Amino acid sequence: MSGEIKVRRVSSGKRSRDGQRSHLTPARKRTSGSAQQCPGSTGEIELSRAMMTQSLHGKFNEVGGWLNSRKTNDTEDLFGDYDSILADSSFLAKLDGAEENAKQNDIHSATRTKCPVVQKYDNIDFTSLKSSTDNCPKRSCDDSMTDSILEGLGDDSLIDIPSSQLAFQQDILQTAENNCCTDEDITSTPVRHPEKSFSVENRNESHITHKARKSISDHLKRTMMGNATAPSSVSRTAVQEAAIVTKEINVAMEAMKAVSVETTDLGPFFGLPTKVKELIRNLKGINDLYEWQNTCLNLDSVQQRRNLIYSLPTSGGKTLVAEILILKELLCRNKDALFILPYISLVQEKVRGLASFGVELDFMVEEYAGSKGRFPPVKRRGKRSLYIATIEKAHSLVNSLIEANRLDNVGLVVVDELHMLGDGSRGAIIEMTLAKVIYVSNLTQIIGMSATLGNVQDLQRFLKAENYTNDFRPIELKEYVKLKDSIYEVTPKEEECFRFSRLLNFKYSSAMQNIDQDHIVALVTEVIPRQSCLVFCPTKKNCENVAAMICKYLTKEFLQHKLAEKATLLGELKNSGNGSLCPVLRKTVPYGLAYHHSGLTSEERKLVEEAYSSGVLCLLTCTSTLAAGINLPARRVILRSPYVAADFLKRSQYKQMVGRAGRAGIDTHGESILIIQDKDKELLVSAPMEICKSNLMYDNGKGVLSLILSLIGLNITNSLQQVMDFMRGTLLSVQEKQLCLERSLWEVTQDCVEQLKQKGLVTEAAKPKEGGLQVTNLGRATYKGSVDLTYCEVLYRDLSKGLECLMLGSFLHLVYLVTPYDMVSQFKPDWMVYFRQFTMLSDVEQKMCAAVGVPESLIARKAAGQNMKKNVDLVGVNRLYMALVLLSLLKETDLWSVANKFQLSRGFLQTLLSSSSAFCSCVLHFTEELEEFWPFKALLTELTRRLTYCVQAELIPLMEVAGVMEGRAKHLYNAGYKTLAHLANADPNILVKTVENLFKKQANQIVASAKMLLNEKADALQQEYLCENPFY
Ligand SMILES: Nc1ncnc2c1ncn2[C@@H]1O[C@H](COP(=O)(O)OP(=O)(O)OP(=O)(O)O)[C@@H](O)[C@H]1O
Ligand SMILES: [Mg+2]
Repeated sequence: MSGEIKVRRVSSGKRSRDGQRSHLTPARKRTSGSAQQCPGSTGEIELSRAMMTQSLHGKFNEVGGWLNSRKTNDTEDLFGDYDSILADSSFLAKLDGAEENAKQNDIHSATRTKCPVVQKYDNIDFTSLKSSTDNCPKRSCDDSMTDSILEGLGDDSLIDIPSSQLAFQQDILQTAENNCCTDEDITSTPVRHPEKSFSVENRNESHITHKARKSISDHLKRTMMGNATAPSSVSRTAVQEAAIVTKEINVAMEAMKAVSVETTDLGPFFGLPTKVKELIRNLKGINDLYEWQNTCLNLDSVQQRRNLIYSLPTSGGKTLVAEILILKELLCRNKDALFILPYISLVQEKVRGLASFGVELDFMVEEYAGSKGRFPPVKRRGKRSLYIATIEKAHSLVNSLIEANRLDNVGLVVVDELHMLGDGSRGAIIEMTLAKVIYVSNLTQIIGMSATLGNVQDLQRFLKAENYTNDFRPIELKEYVKLKDSIYEVTPKEEECFRFSRLLNFKYSSAMQNIDQDHIVALVTEVIPRQSCLVFCPTKKNCENVAAMICKYLTKEFLQHKLAEKATLLGELKNSGNGSLCPVLRKTVPYGLAYHHSGLTSEERKLVEEAYSSGVLCLLTCTSTLAAGINLPARRVILRSPYVAADFLKRSQYKQMVGRAGRAGIDTHGESILIIQDKDKELLVSAPMEICKSNLMYDNGKGVLSLILSLIGLNITNSLQQVMDFMRGTLLSVQEKQLCLERSLWEVTQDCVEQLKQKGLVTEAAKPKEGGLQVTNLGRATYKGSVDLTYCEVLYRDLSKGLECLMLGSFLHLVYLVTPYDMVSQFKPDWMVYFRQFTMLSDVEQKMCAAVGVPESLIARKAAGQNMKKNVDLVGVNRLYMALVLLSLLKETDLWSVANKFQLSRGFLQTLLSSSSAFCSCVLHFTEELEEFWPFKALLTELTRRLTYCVQAELIPLMEVAGVMEGRAKHLYNAGYKTLAHLANADPNILVKTVENLFKKQANQIVASAKMLLNEKADALQQEYLCENPFY
C-alpha cells in the first residue's frame, strides 16, 4: 500500500535554528503581586482640564462619566467595576438632559425583567445514528434549497451509514457507560506538548543563577522589587492603581533612557508594568509565555531595536510577541506604533481586542480600515497612539506622516503576514510603505512575522533585519493525504514523503458512493459533533453543496445537539437579513453545519464564526479566504481538493489551511487530510515554500510608477539620481537579477520618470533653484487620493464633467462618480434588470444617465438582444449599472431585497458598498488637492459616511464602534443604548443580560471599544481647541 505514492522530494528548505539557540537573555525574576500605591495620574488630569474648558463643555460631557471614575480591582473581572449607567447617576442626569431621559428607566426595568433565560443544554447523547429508516428528519415545505445536489437527493439515497458513524456510536455508548462527561473530553488539557509551556517566573528563576546580568539603576530595582513583593490580595482603588501604572511606566521609561543597549532586565515584564501581564492574563487568558516567545523578546536584536523578521508555524503565538513589543514602544519609549494587518475584519478584531489595553494603559487605539482613519492622524499631546491599519491605509498613513514631518514619532511598525509582500498589487503597497519607512526614518523599528516564508534572506536584506525562526507549534499537527480509500501520513523528513497510515473505515451504498466520491461524510463523521472540523473547498458553490450533502447523511441525533443555541443562531441570521434567511443555512445549521465564504454578508460570517468558535456549530465548509482570516481552529481540517478555483494549491496556501488544525488548550493534536486524486499524486505536499517576490513590476510596473510619483510628491526625492538611490533600498533591487531581465533597475526607473512626465503628473522645475523633479497638481491629487494611475485622468475628466451639470436631485450622479473603476470588470450587467431599473428612474436621473453616455435607447437595445454601437464606452455603461445598485442600497438599506432585485450575491453587494465608500474617501482626498473641485468636499464627506454605514441613521453612532454591525446595533438600540456615550458607560454585565445573544467577552470588547472611540473623539476635540487657543 505504502508504495502506491512515489513522490520525489524537492529541497525541503530546512529552517535555521540559530536564533533559537542564541541571544537568550531572560527577563528578570519577579513574583506576582500588586504594586505600590501613589497618587495622581497624568491621563486623568489632562482630561479633567479638558473637561473644564468652556467651549468644549457640551462635547466633553458625554466622555466624562467613565473617565472620571474608572476603577478596577485585581480580584474581580476586569470590566466588572466600570461605571455603569446605573451606577453613575450624575452622568445619567447629564445625558438625560441632552437626550432620551425616559428611556434610561427602560433600561433599568429591562435589566430587571427582560433578561432572557438561556436554556442550558447538556451534551446530548448521540446514542443512535441515522439508519436507513429513521434518517430522514421532516423538513418543512418552504425550506426549498437552491442547491442542486440537495434537490437531486431522494431519501432512498440514504440507505447506508458510513462505518465511521458506527464507530462513533460505539464510542458514545462507551462514553456513556463510563459515565464520563463529554464536556470534559472536549476541554481536557493536552496530554503532550512538543514544547512544554513556559512560566516566566520559573524560567527566570532557573536562569538567574546561570547568567550574570548587568544591573540597571537602583531606583528601578527598588521600585520593581517593591511591586513584586507587595501582597496580591490587597484591593486597590482606581486612582492608586492608575498611579502605579503611571509610575511603573515612568520608571521603565527612565530606565530605557539610562540603560546601555546591552542591558535587558528592565522590569517585571519585559520592562513593562506588572499590570500588562495581568491584562494579558485577564483579557487573553494567557498565563505564561511560550519558551520561544520569551527567547524572542529577549533577543539582542529586539533589545537593541534592530529590525526583525520572525517566522514560526501557524498558531505558534506570533501575535503576542508583536503586541508586547508594541506595548513597550507605546509605554516605555513613549512613541506611536503602527500594526499592519491584511484584512479589514482582522483590523477590526484587533482594534476590539486591544481597545481594553488602551483603556487600561492610557493609550489610543485608532482604526485605519475601509473609510476610517484621519490623514495625518490627530497629533496628540501626552498620549501615544497605536494605529491598526490595513495594507492600503497604512501606506496612506505613512505618506501623511512623512508629509507632516512626523514619521519619527512612529517608533515601531509591525507587519503581520509578511509573506503578503509577494501578493500582487497589495504586496507592492507593503513594499512601498516599508521602503519609505526605512529611507525616511532610521529611528523606526520594523518587525515582520509570517508562518510561510520561503526566501527570508531576500527579505532580511530588504528590511536590514535579523531573523528568528523556530518550529514550535503548541499543538502537534499531523498531516495526511487521502488517495482512494487509503490515508497516508505526510512525512517530509523521511525518504518516502508519505507513509501508509490506515484504510478509511466506511461502508457506502453505490448511490452514496456516487454522490460522495471522496468519502467526505466518512471523514467528517470521525470527528463531529464532539470535535470541530473545517472543510476547505475549491469554490464558493462547492462549499454550499458540500455542507448540504453532508447534512443529508447525518442522523437526527445531530439535530438535538445544542438545539436551543442553534435555534438562536438561526434567529440571529434571520434578523441580520431583515427577515430573510439563506436557504442553505436554514438546512445545515440545525445539524451544526454551515458554509462560510464571501457570498455571505459580513454579519452572517461573523455570526457563523462566533457560533463555530463557541461550539454551537461543529463544522464549516469554507473557501481559502478563511485560512488567512479570523483565527478559527479545528480538530480536523479537510482539504476537499488541492485546487483553489482552477489553480493548483500553492505550498504557502496549503500550509495556511492545514495550520488551522489543532486548538490550543482544547485538542491534544490536530490533523489535516488533503484529498488527492491519482493525477495529482506527483504534485508535492512537501515542496519548498514559494519565493516571496517583489511586486513593484506587477501589472507593467504600475507599482514603480506610483512609488516614484509619491516619492517626488512627498519631497523624499527630487532628482533622478535620488529616485535611484531610493530604489536601491527596495526588495525589487534585492531581486533585480531575477526580476529585471530585460532592463536594469536604472533603466526601469528612468523609463518610469519619463512616463510620469508624459502623463502630466510630474514635471521638471522651471528654475534649477527650485529643485529638479516636481509633481503637478494632478500628480499630487493622484498620490494623495491613492488613486490608481490608470484611472487618474478619467477620474479628473468625470469630475470636471460633473462640475458642469451636477445632478443633485438624487444621489445617483454622486454615487456614479465614486463607483470604483476597478470593480467594473468583475461582473456583467443583467440587461433586462438594467432596463427595468433604468425605466424606474426619474426624468432628471435619466437625463443625467444620458449625459454620462448611457441613454435609455442603448440599454433598451441591449435588453432586446441587439448589439451596441462600436464607440460606446462599456466601462461607463457598467459603472452606471453598479451606481444603480448602490443607489438602491442607499435608498432601501436592505441588502437582501437589493440582491434579489439585481440578481447579485449579498456578499458581493457588501464588497461593492465598502469598496465604494473607500473609493469615495479617495476621491475626496483627490478633489481636496485640486482647487477647481472645491464644491465636492462637503458632498463627498457626507457621501462617504452614508456609504460606510448604509443603515438607518440612528444606528450609525453605534456602528462606529469596531465590529458592531447592523444586527447588533439594532439590538443595542432597542435595549436603550442609543449613543456612543451610552455604550461607553454601559456595564458589560448588564449589557449581556439586556442584549440578546451577547457573550461576556464581546460585551467587554464593545464597551472598551466604545470608551476608546469616545476618548479618541474627546482627545481630538481637545487638541483642536488647544491649537486654536495656544495660550489656554
Ligand atoms: N503563551 C501562550 N500561551 C497560551 N496560548 C497562547 C500563548 N501565546 C499565544 N497563544 C494563543 O495561541 C493562539 C494562536 O496564536 P496566534 O494567533 O498568535 O498564532 P500565529 O502564530 O499568529 O498563527 P498564524 O500564523 O496562524 O496567524 C491564540 O489563540 C493565542 O491567544
Ligand atoms: Mg497570526
